[in-house]
Amino acid sequence: MKKSHSQWSSRMGFMLAAAGSAVGLGNIWKFPYMAGEMGGSAFVLTYLICMFVIGLPILVAEWLIGRRGQKNPIHTMEDVAKAEGRSKNWRWVGIIGVLGSFLILSFYSVIGGWATDYIVIAAKGSFVGMNGNGTSQLFENFLGSVSHLFIWHTVFMFATAFIVALGVGAGLERSCKIMMPGLGLLLIGLVVYAALVSGPAFEQAFKFLFTPNWSAITGKAVLAALGHAFFSLSLGMGIMMAYGSYLGKDVNLISTARTVVILDVIVAILSGMAIFPLVFANGLQPGEGAGLIFVTLPIAFGNMAGGTILGVLFFIFLTFAALTSSISLLEPTVELLEEKTRLSRVSATVVSSVVIWALGIACLLSFNEWKQVTLFGKNIFDLLDYLTSKLMLPLTGLGTIVFAGWMMNQQLIREELHLGPALFALWKFLCRIVIPIAVVAIMIYGFMPQK
Ligand code: PHE
Repeated sequence: MKKSHSQWSSRMGFMLAAAGSAVGLGNIWKFPYMAGEMGGSAFVLTYLICMFVIGLPILVAEWLIGRRGQKNPIHTMEDVAKAEGRSKNWRWVGIIGVLGSFLILSFYSVIGGWATDYIVIAAKGSFVGMNGNGTSQLFENFLGSVSHLFIWHTVFMFATAFIVALGVGAGLERSCKIMMPGLGLLLIGLVVYAALVSGPAFEQAFKFLFTPNWSAITGKAVLAALGHAFFSLSLGMGIMMAYGSYLGKDVNLISTARTVVILDVIVAILSGMAIFPLVFANGLQPGEGAGLIFVTLPIAFGNMAGGTILGVLFFIFLTFAALTSSISLLEPTVELLEEKTRLSRVSATVVSSVVIWALGIACLLSFNEWKQVTLFGKNIFDLLDYLTSKLMLPLTGLGTIVFAGWMMNQQLIREELHLGPALFALWKFLCRIVIPIAVVAIMIYGFMPQK
């Protein structure tokens, strides 16, 4: 059994790790392309509601449980359940969570590889003077080159494994103190640039993302928004639970969670506001799919002063943001192997990474050679994404909140969260009623046959 570990030296260190895990490709790569595919505002507004009404309480619940348990997610769930006099089968929340993180990393690493390769492509000056046709062609050629995708997926996975094996994630997170604000500033710069050059397309983008159009809402979009809220906050995988085990008693969970959620939302919205004006101004399709940022942002970098340098910087920052998330995705599997087998940390990392890397290869082939290989009408990438974001994460999120709301002593939680009577009533109402019903309803609505 693992001994209980040291605690975060400061609230700042904890914030950096939690925000480092949350902010990543999910905000900059996935959010815009999903918004584009799901018709814009219906997705965006439901995502925002899900982030604050469902995501935030679940984030608090994961930290709360993690801080009690002081172990990995599976043992934490088991121990806390036992302490509350409940069945140890609650550990399944932890088990499905670890499996989810494993599956997500296999495709996350492929996309992380794209971001890394785009540093080199940008540095070569490839974007200079390009329009939408050029960047689309460039990306299409890029996707067609299996060897390229393979090399960069391997590089990204290797970097992730290297950091996890050495246990130097904290160092990486510290460098995020520079990288994250850098990424934020560049995103703001890109939004301003998009506003200046794209004329009426900026307004069109704003309308597309934010003007409520509830008639366009579908079960599919709502489920996608819910799943993305979990993905984006790194919820439902025991990751935040594991981080919670390092939290000191004095840290205020609610205000810390609020900061993380707000930060996460801001990055996603900025990314959307940088990308969609370019989409509309250049006659590209919002529903372009997983390549959306890779065909839009290079247009901006290719046509602005200093664009090559800024493009290189942008993809460096993006790669860092992706790495701080990918190390958090690898950690649970490695810890589990370390505990359950006799493997050392380094060997456990090598074994897990190789398996994830191999699954990643199947995933990268689904963008080219194996495009036609489908199961339930989905290629491997889509299938992995679907299985995790739309099924596993909502289920484990549901398990977490039902556990926190119904299985744990509420009076103790009230004291721990320093809740006054009104907020306590709200907490119970959300955890016990609103969130469970909403998650179940959204899942049923999302899986119903669509017109
Ligand atoms: N939240 C990360 C992102 O948005 C991805 C992630 C998902 C990280 C799940 C850890 C766990 O990019």
